[in-house]
Amino acid sequence: MKIRPRILRKSSTIRALVQETNISCSDFIAPLFIVEGKEITDEINSLPGYYRRSLDHTLLEIQELKNLGIKAFILFVKCENHLKDNTGKEAINENGLMQRSIRTIKKNHPEIVLFSDVALDPYSSFGHDGIVENKEILNDESIDILAEMALSHAKAGVDFVAPSDMMDGRIKSIREKLEKNKFHNVGILSYSVKYASCFYGPFRDALGSAPGFGDKKPYQMNPANRKEAIRETKLDIKEGADIIMVKPAMAYLDIIRDVTNYTDLPVCAYQVSGEYAMIKAAAKNGWLNEEDAMIESLISIKRAGASLIVSYFVKEIALMLNNK
Ligand code: PBG
Repeated sequence: MKIRPRILRKSSTIRALVQETNISCSDFIAPLFIVEGKEITDEINSLPGYYRRSLDHTLLEIQELKNLGIKAFILFVKCENHLKDNTGKEAINENGLMQRSIRTIKKNHPEIVLFSDVALDPYSSFGHDGIVENKEILNDESIDILAEMALSHAKAGVDFVAPSDMMDGRIKSIREKLEKNKFHNVGILSYSVKYASCFYGPFRDALGSAPGFGDKKPYQMNPANRKEAIRETKLDIKEGADIIMVKPAMAYLDIIRDVTNYTDLPVCAYQVSGEYAMIKAAAKNGWLNEEDAMIESLISIKRAGASLIVSYFVKEIALMLNNK
């Protein structure tokens, strides 16, 4: 026998020397759920170990994550029920929770990179990502309001807007709106390849944003499709996206690889709420080792080609990387 691959697996030091994929704190974007109020840290039922926080507590959490080496954050807000409607009015309110949060966070932590979710679902009385008419989610009317929403986040000081709505043409309308208003330096992280996935369930619990009727299949992608991922990516690049997102991650590693091979833009993957919840639940039952499952799942996402990862494991992985 002349070829013995096991030589490179002989000790942990050799294995580390030849390891092809590594993760570090600079790969991560931490999702943050913000609610109205003061001194609130409220655990999310279906996301054990993850919290909704009022803005004051969010600032403390950012400081804690910063100390661990996490420098990028993506914001989601829980809109109060009485402010929800079918026009997205609250989504563009300059004094809305999102806009106030962006201003306050950037003032307190100017050096962090801040992303904001752009979609109507948390603000929609129907729980849909766009404006609804006769049970249809209107496209062109929705992208006008999404562009306004992105502009209001830019005015508040966000670094990147992150449209997660999957309407056609929204990257173009957002880019044009930003250019016209001289926000030449605000980036677009586009959820270009977002599947109609059951794995978003816990997120919708967290924000109370589940669709009131039907589902999101008329705008989010069919999980059975692969070529369509390239079609969506191609369009978003042409329309002006800076970073391409694939979402969810673990059930779509082939798609992450396809998109990475296709584009020279950075590719971000979202390890979504259901992916986190599955690992947590299995670990709680003693069926999986949580830390090993966390690392293996995150390494697989990077190995598939993602250079950035949004993950609810962000603090646990940062703690682990700091103690290595
Ligand atoms: C809003 C949005 C969703 C997620 C991110 N932005 C939910 C959805 O599209 O229904 C899901 C994130 C997760 O599950 O962690 N458009």
